[in-house]
Amino acid sequence: MNPFSYGTIVQGSNFYDRKVECARIIDILSGGNNMVLYAPRRFGKTSLIFKAMAQLKAQGFICVYFDFMPVFSPESFVRLYSKALAEKQTNLQRFTQIFTSAVQSIRPLLTFDSHGSPEFSIDFAGSTVDETLIAQLLDIPEKLAETTKKRVIVFFDEFQEVGKLSSINFEGLLRSKIQQQFATNYLFFGSKTHMLKEMFNDKKRAFYHSASQMTIGALPEKDTIEYLQKKFADSAITLDTETAKYIISVTADIPHYIQLMAAEIWQYVINSQTIVTKKIVDDCVERLLALKNDYYMELFDRQSQSKKQLLQALTVNGENIFSTAYINAHYLPSAATLQRAVKKLVQDGTIEKMNRTYFITDPFFKLFVTATT
Ligand SMILES: Nc1ncnc2c1ncn2[C@@H]1O[C@H](COP(=O)(O)OP(=O)(O)OP(=O)(O)O)[C@@H](O)[C@H]1O
Ligand SMILES: [Mg+2]
Repeated sequence: MNPFSYGTIVQGSNFYDRKVECARIIDILSGGNNMVLYAPRRFGKTSLIFKAMAQLKAQGFICVYFDFMPVFSPESFVRLYSKALAEKQTNLQRFTQIFTSAVQSIRPLLTFDSHGSPEFSIDFAGSTVDETLIAQLLDIPEKLAETTKKRVIVFFDEFQEVGKLSSINFEGLLRSKIQQQFATNYLFFGSKTHMLKEMFNDKKRAFYHSASQMTIGALPEKDTIEYLQKKFADSAITLDTETAKYIISVTADIPHYIQLMAAEIWQYVINSQTIVTKKIVDDCVERLLALKNDYYMELFDRQSQSKKQLLQALTVNGENIFSTAYINAHYLPSAATLQRAVKKLVQDGTIEKMNRTYFITDPFFKLFVTATT
């Protein structure tokens, strides 16, 4: 079986490093504070949070994980959040009672499947999903804490998606609820860094300075090299340090793409070769690019001329991109037009900003764009 995994939450021996970050998350949350975690796409946020969550559970906290990504309406929030709250409950009967006491307009249902295991669901019975209902639902973690005498921590993944609930002023509502809760803490995180930063750093927003802020970067190069070498060595394949560094550089040091690349290389060499060479890495990059060629072509094609120009410039360098020197060197439009192009590309996730530097989010798309210049 391929020892590398990507596209899923990694756990156990597939997860390395992040010890300092994990300890900090645990300290802040167990210390009774709320937290917001920023990191660009595919850096390993959800995996890290799952690790922290397991440790917090072991310390006796009730942990609720909720992903805002599938939420598309207030009604879907009610359905999915109710389910998430019920999910890890050891005593569903007690949870159903808590639910009934907190939420007046919808009925919780406790049924039993063919194996006799209890299942929790809700029945809207035609009731309208309004601010009152959402507010009552948001009270449940605190009620759960009061009943169980355990502290509760709610983990809101892809939290920037709360914007989809603006019709019911969700942001303001949640903020006011959180302020009234003393046995519940929250961790907010997500991949649209700029949107989250706006939520927590803009004076006009409900969540302004309401949580301790933290960011995660790339995994330390030394640890990645060791990890890759060990995993290949387990299959009797040698990966020297230089080639490992080359893998890290073509994947822009982004955890997801490192694993994707390593998985592709492993598949390529297993049963035929015992040493990974730079040439093999290049062949695998070609294979991956060929697979995504149509998609990248379409993605690039649909950009305006100034965006194309900017994407090409970013393959070279992403610092001081609004400076006259940069604009002139890369034949970019005026700073105002450039600002708009950057904003749109950041919004749709094609590019991101980290440490004052802009970069193309998907390193393989970056390679594709490089090849078009
Ligand atoms: N600590 C780690 N050790 C090993 N691999 C990791 C680690 N963190 C992340 N990865 C790799 O990155 C992939 C993405 O991880 P994860 O889904 O946790 O990131 P994310 O930041 O939540 O991504 P998204 O922005 O898509 O939500 C994993 O499937 C794995 O391949
Ligand atoms: Mg994630």
